Amino acid sequence: MSAPAPTAAIAAARARRGPIVVLTGAGISAESGIPTFRGTEGYWRIGSRNYHPQELATFAAFTAIPAEVWGWYLYRRGICRAAEPNAAHRALATLEQAHADDFVLITQNVDGLHLRAGNSSERTWQIHGNLHWFRCTADCGAARQPVPDALPLAWERGRIPTGGEIDLLRCANCGAAGRPHVLWFDECYDENNYRADSALLLARQAALLLVVGTSGSTTLPLRIAQIAAERQVPTIVVDLEPGVFGELAGRSRFGAFLAGKASEQVPALVQRWLSAST
Ligand code: APR
Ligand code: ZN
Repeated sequence: MSAPAPTAAIAAARARRGPIVVLTGAGISAESGIPTFRGTEGYWRIGSRNYHPQELATFAAFTAIPAEVWGWYLYRRGICRAAEPNAAHRALATLEQAHADDFVLITQNVDGLHLRAGNSSERTWQIHGNLHWFRCTADCGAARQPVPDALPLAWERGRIPTGGEIDLLRCANCGAAGRPHVLWFDECYDENNYRADSALLLARQAALLLVVGTSGSTTLPLRIAQIAAERQVPTIVVDLEPGVFGELAGRSRFGAFLAGKASEQVPALVQRWLSAST
């Protein structure tokens, strides 16, 4: 796609009023060692049965086999906690520091790496949740609760938590069972848990949309990019391949696709953005 260099997108964005909106997906965490979703992901074995992520990441699976589903999330929690934020995560934290109130990071990632890199929880909208937290299944009004440290981080793949370990994941307020604070494939976005309405409103105000490492397989991120394209918002896409976001960027007069690894492209882009402001 012969899009103008990001320089044109950066200049056009600077001429517009509105926030910088960054949208990230699993690709930004790939170089931290966290598998993406549609990459070469293996099957997940629990007991004697293979499951595919899409089978386990559902409310139906949690209702039927809650301990097994918790085992999968506790396993992924260990992988995410063992991973470190990479240069792309750190560059976005630098970008927020430089733009504070005019910056929002919308992430599909549940790994928590943006927060560990230094982005603020106020301006990091985790539209698919965060697997280091759980919610009350009785919706008693309790706030999200952290998965307790008493549950070991080194969680063997396929291990099913004991009844005692599951009891550690009960709501501190009412004692009902807890569920991972993540959006499942058979559930819908909402504002209360996932900031869905705010994210769409933000797309209508953005001066710049930066999309990093996502395949566009989910509806809300795609809608955000479509609204940006309708508003001719300068859109920069960083990914190994253009994909649907690269195609949408191509519809914007100031769209740019930067092919390459997030940990290389994002720091260079943030540097270019910040030096354009001096
Ligand atoms: N640098 C930049 N981009 C990368 C890198 C990298 N090092 N490695 C992979 N990518 C890109 C891939 O090219 C792809 O576009 O990251 C994207 C990963 O796509 P997915 O695996 O589909 O992950 P994501 O888009 O985040 O999935 C969205 O779907 O399964 C649900 O809830 C889950 O949040 C997830 C959502
Ligand atoms: Zn409760």
